[in-house]
Amino acid sequence: MCYAIPGKVVEIKDNIVTVDYFGEKRKAKNDFYKLSAGDYIYAQGGFVVQRVSRQEAKEILKTWEELFFKLQQTDLRLAQKPKDLRQIANSVRQKELGNSCCVHGILEFSNYCRNDCLYCGLRNSNSSLTRYRMDIDEIVAAADIAVRKLKFKALVLQSGEDPWYDGKKLIEIIKRIRKKSPALLILSIGEREAGLYEKLYKAGARGALLRFETSNPALYKKMRPGHNPKERLDLINRLHDIGYLIMTGFLIGLPGQTQEDLLKDIQLTGSLGTDMFSFGPFIPHPQTPLADSPSPSIEETLDAIARTRIMSPESRILVTTSLETLDKEDGLRQGLLSGGNSLMINVTPKKYRRLYDIYPDRAGTDADIKERIDSVVKLLYSIGRAPTDIGLGIQS
Ligand code: 5AD
Ligand code: SF4
Repeated sequence: MCYAIPGKVVEIKDNIVTVDYFGEKRKAKNDFYKLSAGDYIYAQGGFVVQRVSRQEAKEILKTWEELFFKLQQTDLRLAQKPKDLRQIANSVRQKELGNSCCVHGILEFSNYCRNDCLYCGLRNSNSSLTRYRMDIDEIVAAADIAVRKLKFKALVLQSGEDPWYDGKKLIEIIKRIRKKSPALLILSIGEREAGLYEKLYKAGARGALLRFETSNPALYKKMRPGHNPKERLDLINRLHDIGYLIMTGFLIGLPGQTQEDLLKDIQLTGSLGTDMFSFGPFIPHPQTPLADSPSPSIEETLDAIARTRIMSPESRILVTTSLETLDKEDGLRQGLLSGGNSLMINVTPKKYRRLYDIYPDRAGTDADIKERIDSVVKLLYSIGRAPTDIGLGIQS
């Protein structure tokens, strides 16, 4: 199974290539390969991330072609005659972006964190959590399984804010993964120095996932003791300037958050040059000061996705694991039908997955990765979505 459709390079201008997907043309930035017209590539988030042989590409495209058009029909049918906010959002998504759905892998390589966010189970003060760090070889091997065996074309490398991974280690990790198992590499490593992020970009990382958590400065300071919202926003802007694809967002339902805050959160996400919105419901963790605070309802979360889609029609909106955790049976499907169009599958080795305990009982924690992929793909097909990313990042 494949999580992106190979595209044929039809034009090259400096490092921008025009790629053809079943007659649809997209642009992508090529930082990594020497390409000629007629070559086949995989693009993710507007970047060429992998090259594929012509023969392999043709075989994959043959199996895709018929399915692709069938899925488009199903998606179109489900988006017709919208009646409520969420259905309107779904129809906006269908009109603006069609049926492609990004499916990224996420590898959680360390659960150490130097911070003490009130909402998070990985907080430094949670002494009941068993901590782990994957060493460099382990991370490279796990990434290789995700990319070469499971065929992911984009991989989020996530950890708590853990300075044990210094520049030297992180650069080695990125370079080795890019060399052995090329994919779009997205960093989710917290607030590290802008200079470090610059080096990691040079080493081959192209995405940064860093939520601003809340647009309300007073709430931010309360929830993240010792931290300053301006510094975080400045860093997100800096990362954008460096060239990173930006994935950012907020938490829904933090104690003290108002409806007005939530609207500002959505607006702020859209104003940061964001390539992917990442926001999900707060879920209380028993070993944190917010243990007794309630989660928001699934309805609130779905409405936030729908509003975001209507306010930013062309955005990519992640359906988070936390939404799925609120409703394990149907949360993912509902999120995708309320304006969402991307998701992540956890590819962390099973022995560590349970320890990445941001909040309890996370959806997918015990699942076998292959079974999880199969069930996600089945769900996507049932609602007419193609698990692809055909390079939306660059429009002109
Ligand atoms: N519930 C939901 N999401 C959480 N995060 C941290 N703690 C929780 C929680 N209790 C999110 C934060 C952080 C991301 C890695 O996980 O938004 O940015
Ligand atoms: Fe650390 Fe991130 Fe959790 Fe805060 S939310 S404690 S920075 S892992």
